Amino acid sequence: MHKHTIIVGLQHGDEAKARFVDWYVQEHKIKHVVRFNGGPNAGHTMVVNGVKYVTHGVPCGIINPGVKCYIGPGCVINPQKLLAEIQELKDLGISNIEARLKIDSRCHIITEEHIQRDIETEKTNPVGSTKQGIAPCYSDKYARKGTTILNSKIRELDRYIVGNVGEVLRNIPNYTEIVYEGAQGAMLDIDSHDYPNVTSSHCTAPYAMIGSGYGMMQNPKVIGVAKPYLTKVGTGYFPTSIEGTPLAEEIRAVGKEYGATTGRPRKIGWLNLKELKLACRLNGVTEIALFKNDVLRDIGKPVQVLLPSGEYVSVRYPMEATALCFLIEEHTGAKVKYFGVGPEREKLIVRE
Ligand code: IMP
Repeated sequence: MHKHTIIVGLQHGDEAKARFVDWYVQEHKIKHVVRFNGGPNAGHTMVVNGVKYVTHGVPCGIINPGVKCYIGPGCVINPQKLLAEIQELKDLGISNIEARLKIDSRCHIITEEHIQRDIETEKTNPVGSTKQGIAPCYSDKYARKGTTILNSKIRELDRYIVGNVGEVLRNIPNYTEIVYEGAQGAMLDIDSHDYPNVTSSHCTAPYAMIGSGYGMMQNPKVIGVAKPYLTKVGTGYFPTSIEGTPLAEEIRAVGKEYGATTGRPRKIGWLNLKELKLACRLNGVTEIALFKNDVLRDIGKPVQVLLPSGEYVSVRYPMEATALCFLIEEHTGAKVKYFGVGPEREKLIVRE
C-alpha cells in the first residue's frame, strides 16, 4: 500500500502547480514524482535560491536531488525537445538525471508532422493551442495509428525508458508517499464543458490512476492549486474576463502572466467560485493551495470574486485575504491550507 498525493490545477492552467509541487516535495521529503497527462504544452516554472528552472515534459520534482521522476503512459513526448530540456537542466547543475528519470515505453511520440498539423489546424479552427502537436498526437493515439516509444526507432531516449511505469511504482516499498503532478487545469480537461476550447488530455485527478499506469488507488489525497484571480491563454468561455482594462494590464505585469511555453500574454479575469466549486468536485479536492496572493497584495486595490449565485463581491488585499479564504472554503467545501505569497520556496504559509 502506498500513500498517494495528487496535485492538480483547478482553473485554466498556470496556477503555480510546479511551485507547489516543489515545496511539497521538499517539505515532505518525497522521493517519487509522476507526470500523468499532457506533454510539452505544459510549462512549469520554479525559483530556487534565485535560480529559475522551467520544465515542460520532465516532472518538476527533478530539480530536487535524489527524487525519482516518472513519465506515465498518459503523457505524450517530443523526444528532441525532451532531450534538449534534460540538457538544459544539466547545464543548470541538475545531476544524475539518467538514474532518476523513467519514461513509460507506451508514451506516444509527437512527430514533426503532428506539429505541422497543429499549426495548420490553428489557422482554420483556432483554440489558441501551444502548437506543440498535442492534439494531432493524441488523435493518432486514440485512432490507434500513433507511434509509442516502444514501436518507434528512436534510440536516444533508451537509457530513460522502462516498460511499465505503473509496475515500477507498485514495487516502491509500502507506505511510501508518491506525488502525482497534473499538467494544465480542470477547465482545460478534454471532457470540460468548454470543449473544443480545451487540451487533448484529462487534467483531473482521477486520470492520475490511468495516466501514471498505477491503476486504482485507495484514498488518494488531492490538493488543488488555484489563484485568487484567473488567467487564460486560449479561446473559450471566460465570463469574468477583465481584458482591456488597466487593472488587467497591472495584474499581468505584476504577476508576470505570460506563457512559460509560448510567451503569450495571458488573459486576466476575476476568480470564479462556480468554476472552482466544480473543479474541486471533479477532482475530489480536500485541500487548496492558493498562490500569487502577493500579486493582489502588491496591487493593493479591491478585486472582484464571482459567487456561484452570479453576484460579484469585492475583496481588498491583503486585509481581507483571510475573508477570501473563508469564502472559498464555504463554497468549495475544501480547506485553503496553503497560501502562497511569492515565487520563492519559503514564501508559503500553511493555514492550520
Ligand atoms: P494544446 O494543449 O497545445 O493543444 O492547447 C489547447 C488549449 O490548452 C489552448 O487553449 C492552450 O492555451 C491550453 N493550454 C495547454 N497547455 C497549457 C498550459 O500549460 N497552461 C495554460 N494553458 C494551456
